[in-house]
Amino acid sequence: PPQNASTKRVDPFSILAPELNHLRKTLLSLLGTSHPSLNRIAEYYFLHPSKQIRPLLVLLFARATNGLGSDWGFERWKMECEGAGGRAEELNAPLTRSDVLNDWNPNMPDHTSSFSEVFPLVNPSPRPPLPQPPAYVKSLPCALDPSQLILPTQSRLSQIVEMIHVASLLHDDVIDKSPLRRGAPSAPEAFGNKVSVLGGDFLLGRASAALSRLGSHEVTELIAGVISNLVEGEIIQMKKTRESAPALADGEQPSSVLQAHWNMYMKKTYLKTASLMAKGSRAAVVLGGCREGEIWKEVAYAYGRNLGLAFQLVDDIMDYEAKESTMGKPGGADLKLGLATGPALYAWEEHPEMGPLIARKFEHTGDVELAAELVRRSSGVERTRRLAIAHAEQAKKVLEPLPDSEAKSALEALTEKVVHRT
Ligand code: FPP
Ligand code: MG
Repeated sequence: PPQNASTKRVDPFSILAPELNHLRKTLLSLLGTSHPSLNRIAEYYFLHPSKQIRPLLVLLFARATNGLGSDWGFERWKMECEGAGGRAEELNAPLTRSDVLNDWNPNMPDHTSSFSEVFPLVNPSPRPPLPQPPAYVKSLPCALDPSQLILPTQSRLSQIVEMIHVASLLHDDVIDKSPLRRGAPSAPEAFGNKVSVLGGDFLLGRASAALSRLGSHEVTELIAGVISNLVEGEIIQMKKTRESAPALADGEQPSSVLQAHWNMYMKKTYLKTASLMAKGSRAAVVLGGCREGEIWKEVAYAYGRNLGLAFQLVDDIMDYEAKESTMGKPGGADLKLGLATGPALYAWEEHPEMGPLIARKFEHTGDVELAAELVRRSSGVERTRRLAIAHAEQAKKVLEPLPDSEAKSALEALTEKVVHRT
C-alpha cells in the first residue's frame, strides 16, 4: 500500500532518542542494592543498550493518546499536586523504604551488631491523607500540548517494561544455554546460571515495587499478567514439556495436525513476545486517563498485539537467514533447540517429510540439516514474511481512529521498520 508522506519522514527511534537514553540511565538507580555482585548482574544487560522497542511503544502511545481520555485532567493534576502519587518526586522516593522495619536496604547499618538492637516500637508518623482533586480538574484546560507531554508515571512504566523484558532474557539465556547476547558473553556465561536466575528474580521484585507505586490497579493487573504470559509462552516452547506432534488418528487429515501446530505456535508467539508489547501499550494509555468504554485502550492493545506477532515472526525468519557468527544468535539456533517456527511449519505443507522431523524435535543426527534444507527448498521463509507483513499492516490499520500526530506517524513507521529489520 502507498505510504503517506509523514510515515516516511518520522523515525520512531530518533524522535524519542533523548528520552530513551535518559530513561535507560535513570533506570539503574532503581536497581541499587547493598550487594555489589547483585548490582553487577542486575545492571549487566542494561549496559549494552538494546533497541528498547518496548519502552518506545509505551512512550509513543503516551504521546499519541494523552489528552484524549476522560480522566486526563485528573492524571495531569496528580502529576502536579504534591502527595497525589503521580509526581516524579513521589515516584522517585527510594523503592526500599527505611520506614519499613523488616526491609533490608542500603541505608541500614551493615554490621552484625545492628541485629542485636531491638527495633523500637515507634509508630511511624502517619502519612498525610491524599488531597482531594478540586472539582475543576475534570475540565482542566491543557496549558501544554498534551501530545508532547509524557507523564512521570508513563516514563516509569517504560522502564518497568524493559526491566521485565531483561528479567525474562536473564532466565531465557539459562534455558536456551545461549553463550552470547548482543555480541557479548551472556549473563549465564559471565556469572553462572544460578546468579542469572536470581538476578532476573531481583529485577522482577524491583519492577513490581515500581509498578505498585504507579497507583493503578488496572495497570498492575495488566503488567502482572504479562509476567505470567512470558512464563506460559516459555513453557509451551520448552522441549521437555511440549506436546509431541499428535499422531494421525484413523481418517484424520494431516492438515488438522498441522493446524494444531500452527495454533500452538501462534499462541506461544503471543505469550512470549506480543503480550508485553500489547499490554504495555495499553497500560500507557490507562495511565494517561483513558477509561472503560474509551476506544484508545483497545487501539493500543490491538496495535501492540499485531506489532508483537510481526516482530517475532520476523525474528523467526532471521534465525534461518543468520549465518553462524560471533555476534548475537547463531543461525539455525531454533532448529537446534527443537523448535518448529513459521518457516518450518509452512515447509511441512510443501514437504510431508518434515512431519516426522518436527514430531521428534529434530533430535536424530542430520535432522537439523535436513530440516534446514527442506525449508530452503520451500517457500516457508517467504510465506512467514507475508504473514508478518499482514500483522504489521493490521497494526497500522488499527491506528486509524487516532488523531494525527507525530507519535501516530512514528507508530505507523514502526510497523514498516519491524518487518524490514535485518
Ligand atoms: C527470548 O526468546 C525470550 C523471551 C521473549 C521470553 C522468555 C521468558 C521466560 C524465560 C520466562 C520467565 C519470565 C520472566 C519474566 C522471569 P528467544 O530465545 O526466541 O530470543 P533470543 O534469541 O533473544 O534469546
Ligand atoms: Mg533465547
